[in-house]
Formats: sequence, C-alpha cells, structure tokens
Amino acid sequence: HGTSRINGQGHLEIGGCDTTALVEQYGTPLYVMDEAQIRQRAREFTEAFQASGFRFQIAYASKAFCVMAMCKLAEQEGLSLDVVSDGELFTALKAGFPVDRIHFHGNNKSPFEIEMAVDAGIGCFVVDNFTELQLLNEIAGQRNRRVKILFRVTPGVEAHTHDYISTGQTDSKFGFDIGNGQAKQAIETAINLSNIEILGIHSHIGSQIFEVEGFRMAAERVAVFAATIRTELDITLQVINLGGGFGIRYKEGDTPLQISQYVKAITEAIKNCFGQVNYPLPEIWVEPGRSMVGDAGTTLYTIGTYKDIPGVRKYVAVDGGMTDNPRPALYESVYEAMLANRANEANEEIVTIAGKACESGDMLIWDISLPKSKWGDILAVSCTGAYNYAMASNYNRIRRPAVVFVQAGKSDLVVKRESQADIVNNDLIPERLFG
Ligand code: LLP
Repeated sequence: HGTSRINGQGHLEIGGCDTTALVEQYGTPLYVMDEAQIRQRAREFTEAFQASGFRFQIAYASKAFCVMAMCKLAEQEGLSLDVVSDGELFTALKAGFPVDRIHFHGNNKSPFEIEMAVDAGIGCFVVDNFTELQLLNEIAGQRNRRVKILFRVTPGVEAHTHDYISTGQTDSKFGFDIGNGQAKQAIETAINLSNIEILGIHSHIGSQIFEVEGFRMAAERVAVFAATIRTELDITLQVINLGGGFGIRYKEGDTPLQISQYVKAITEAIKNCFGQVNYPLPEIWVEPGRSMVGDAGTTLYTIGTYKDIPGVRKYVAVDGGMTDNPRPALYESVYEAMLANRANEANEEIVTIAGKACESGDMLIWDISLPKSKWGDILAVSCTGAYNYAMASNYNRIRRPAVVFVQAGKSDLVVKRESQADIVNNDLIPERLFG
C-alpha cells in the first residue's frame, strides 16, 4: 500500500521510515499513518470531481480518524469536514479548521451540541429528524442566527455490506424516508421555520461498498426527489450530498471501485435526472471517511507469547488487540499482516493473532501464514487507518497507542501514547466514602 516497501535490511518501510526504527523510537502498539497516501487520496477525489464539471465539496468524514493533525491535513488538502459529536467538533475547532466548511451530522444531537455548533457558526447541519428540526430552529432563533441545513433522507437503497454499517434502507435510525413521504413533509415544515435556510439533501447508504450500482441508484433517487421537490414545493435544493461508503482493499479479493468510476456514476445519474426536467445542476458533496485514511494506516505490534495446541491451533499474541482494533471482533473484519522486521522471509506456519485483552473474542487475525515468529518480532497489520484509533478503548485499562505520521523518511507524533496517569485522570475517591 502507498509508499510502503521492503528495504535492504528486509524491514518494512513506510513513508521512507524503517518500521523497526519507528518501534524503537515510539514503542508499540503504534499506528503509523502514511501522510503522502492520505494526500494522494484526497487529490484523487478532488481531481475526479474537477473533471466532472460539477461544483462540489469533499468532506472528510472525521469519524474514521479524528485528531487535530488530521483536521489540519484535511484543511490543507481543501477538504471540508463532517463531524458527529461535540468531541469531533471540538477537535476541528481546536485545530483551527475553517468553520464554514464543517458539517454536523448525527441522529441525536444534544441541545448542548447544537448550541456549540450554532455559536461556532458552522457551515451546515445535516438534520436527521423532526425533533432536531424544531430544536435547531429554536436554538438558532434564541441567538438571532439563521442556520443552513441539509435533510438526511433514506433513499431505500440497501448496499451490499455488513448489516450494522448499512444505512440507506427504510428501517434505519437515520434520516427521513423518501418513500413514505416524511422527507417531503420535513421540507414543507422547514419552509415555515424562520431560522432555517434549506440548502439541500443528504443520503448515505452504507460503508465499505464495492458496487457502483448502489451509489448510482441512491444518486438517482435523491436527484429525482430533489427535482420533484422543486416542481411541487418550488424549493431549490442546491446541494446533493451522497455521503461516504467508498470501499477499500483490506485483503486479497477485495475489489474497490476506481474513484473516477464512482464519481462518474453519481455525477451522470444526477446530470441525467436534472437534464430531463431542465433544472440547473446542484452542487455535489460527498463524505469519504474510510477511503481517505484506511489503507494509509498500519499498526505495529510486538509479538509476545506463543501457544501451540497440537493439532488444533497456534496462537501468537501481540501487545494490543481489540482495544486498538475492535473491528475483527465487531464485524468479523479480515486483515492482512506481515513480520515487519523479517519481511523477506518465507511463510512457514499458519497462526492466529490474539490480542492481550481478557476476552476470548479478542483476535486480530484468524489463520494467517507467517514466518515462524518469535518473542520480540514486530507484526505489521495493514489498512488500520480508519475506525481503529477512532474506535479504540481502554478496556482492561489498556492504554491507547500513539499515532505517528510518516513522510519522506520523517516521522512525527500526532497523538501521544496514553500514560498511566491518563488512565486514572478522571477517577475520583470521594472523601465521604473513604475519609
Ligand atoms: N457520512 C455518514 C453520514 C456516515 O454515517 C459515514 C459512516 C460516512 C459518511 C463515512 O463513511 P465511509 O466513507 O467511512 O464508509 N465503524 C464502521 C464504519 C461505520 C461507518 C459509519 N458511517 C467500521 O469500522 O467499518
């Protein structure tokens, strides 16, 4: 992936940095992010949209990996930013991300979060439901502000992906359904709300999608809906946001789309539809998360214990696991890995990579071929840039790893490794109970 290669010493090198040197300097587990790879991906999206002739915004879905340095990088690449909580918003604001390019998502934004975002003056809210619509209008009114919104709609498209990460179907906790009329009703309601400015609509059908058809269908349905709204309610939806979901290659056999192919499919679907009714073309927004950072990330672990159950299975344990990458346990996600310090050696045995948490399900990779590993070897698991650090936990009070950016032989810490002091930082021993 990206700028990775095996160097003269038989070590895995990422962004020109020898991974064994990174381990020496920063310890393990360590998330290594290939900065050039992220930038290249951002540029691929940008160039594909430039070629389409549409006006566009590419919002990095920060949920995939939200830290201040990443917000900075997104800003440098001219991206917008999608946030879904006060924590992500705070991170973006602290990083000085341009507020007018921040979009706020979520199906249950709290009054506090809405107030914070209105006060900051963010670019737009993606309104999910009727409760939020009223609350947002009220809060904006109290502050004499007019806020821009997109309506999140469910187009009734089921993407072929894991159930828990598919969101475009009617029975979803997200958004207003087009099919049952609630999406139109929401727009009619908003027309009469004085502190709301309707910018457009939004749909996100799921994540880790490889088929162009789901994207094309969603684009078409949303475009048809936008055109209908214009005809029936005389409201121009200037923005069509098609969410994220662009899949990446985690393992052999995964076949991601070309970005240009994806952009062509959605832009043409929209162009067709608007052409038929002769309406001016909307702006197209998208929200890639995983595809922006996923394959730019590699996690380095130190190998510890080895357990051979004759005739059954060999377990190789690493110094991390579900606490830094819960995806195998949550979604049965499959990852590839290699020994970073012996990258040229032939595979000799099939092992299962176990984490160190007190839970039998804490496995990172089932049945992978590796050279015969020993205590102290370094395991590199690839494609861990998205939804890994972002979903990391302190289960068993395991400390969250550090994150480094690497580029052209240089490495920089962007998140420090948690300290033991961090672990007890919010704990209190009430005097009433313990004197
Ligand atoms: N926009 C919205 C409204 C979303 O809900 C999401 C992802 C995205 C954009 C970005 O989608 P992406 O390009 O990353 O596929 N934790 C799961 C993924 C959950 C995705 C949630 N929403 C995982 O680890 O696979």
